[in-house]
Amino acid sequence: MRKTVAVLATSALLALAGQTPPASAGGHHDGKTLRSAAPRDLRIGTAVAGGGHHVDQPYPDPFTYDRPYRKVLAAEFNSVSPENQMKWEFIHPERHRYNFGPADAIVKFARQHKQVVRGHTLLWHSQNPDWLTEGTFTKAELRSILKSHIYTVVGRYRGQIHQWDVANEIFNENGEYRQENIFIRELGPGIVADAFRWAHQADPKAQLFLNDYGVDWPGAKVDAYEALAKELLAARVPLHGFASQAHLSMRYGAPDQLASVLQRFDDLGLYTAITELDVRMDLPEGGEPTAEQLQTQARYYRTVLDACLAVDDCNSFTIWGFTDKYSWVPVFFPAEGAATVMWDDFTRKPAYYTLREGLRQAR
Ligand code: XIL
Repeated sequence: MRKTVAVLATSALLALAGQTPPASAGGHHDGKTLRSAAPRDLRIGTAVAGGGHHVDQPYPDPFTYDRPYRKVLAAEFNSVSPENQMKWEFIHPERHRYNFGPADAIVKFARQHKQVVRGHTLLWHSQNPDWLTEGTFTKAELRSILKSHIYTVVGRYRGQIHQWDVANEIFNENGEYRQENIFIRELGPGIVADAFRWAHQADPKAQLFLNDYGVDWPGAKVDAYEALAKELLAARVPLHGFASQAHLSMRYGAPDQLASVLQRFDDLGLYTAITELDVRMDLPEGGEPTAEQLQTQARYYRTVLDACLAVDDCNSFTIWGFTDKYSWVPVFFPAEGAATVMWDDFTRKPAYYTLREGLRQAR
């Protein structure tokens, strides 16, 4: 009786402090969660919902307000990626002001639940603050703005970040540098190498990544990344990894050549990772996926997991949110949805079980 009271009191205290009890009290290796089923050398991650499209949705910030959400987040994953909270527009909203609160809270949560963090992202064309994109700066100023941003943000979390997406989506589909990226446009592609050097100086232990979508099949974009990776490595730039976001749609085939793409980077001595996996589908009238669609979706998830498992140094596998409740997909892709591995109420779809089984077999 006493014991029960004590237990209740502890969780009540944790609740007051806005925390959740430690993950999987039943054991970290029971194979009943994704993290406990996974091989030791593979991190299983999710995006942590907050900021971005969530701001306009009819619910409060998921990460800070949804306690059942936090519970699943802690129990199922041993890696977390801030979905928006470390992007420029959030963390650096004014030229001389940083907003670290939301990112700090995620890093703290991760520490409490024995999770690592993937930092996302430092050099990107999207979700930049107006003061940056609409300001008038000399090249020297712009360069020093980027440098001090990287020193400040990476430095703040020094030693606490497993992997940083240093450069995100820097190539177009045809393999040309994206001119929407203000730093690349104004300062030239050489700025990519500088960003890696600065990030490495600020946190020598973090693994530094190139990250993009549309690199699940061979093609011009993958060729461009391979060429860049070779160039950076030859110049002794601290590049450590190449990642496929893997935002997939069932309108296109499953990425059955992904393993061979990742292998090309593994062959260069780089880590590889899956960083933002989701599998969206066209929802039938009424919005409920059919059983067949769910099976197909599970197969896509499994194809991506198997690709990662097939490559020696694929060391991180992250899904872009675990519940449809907070997925970015319906907001960004009209008529598509149901892209994650759990329903709104956190019950599990076939894709969840397929992933967990695949991890268990690999262990
Ligand atoms: C998305 C977020 O999920 C949304 O909340 C936000 O409104 C827009 O960005 N590639 C990336 C991610 O690298 O940062 C994007 O995340 C999805 C595509």
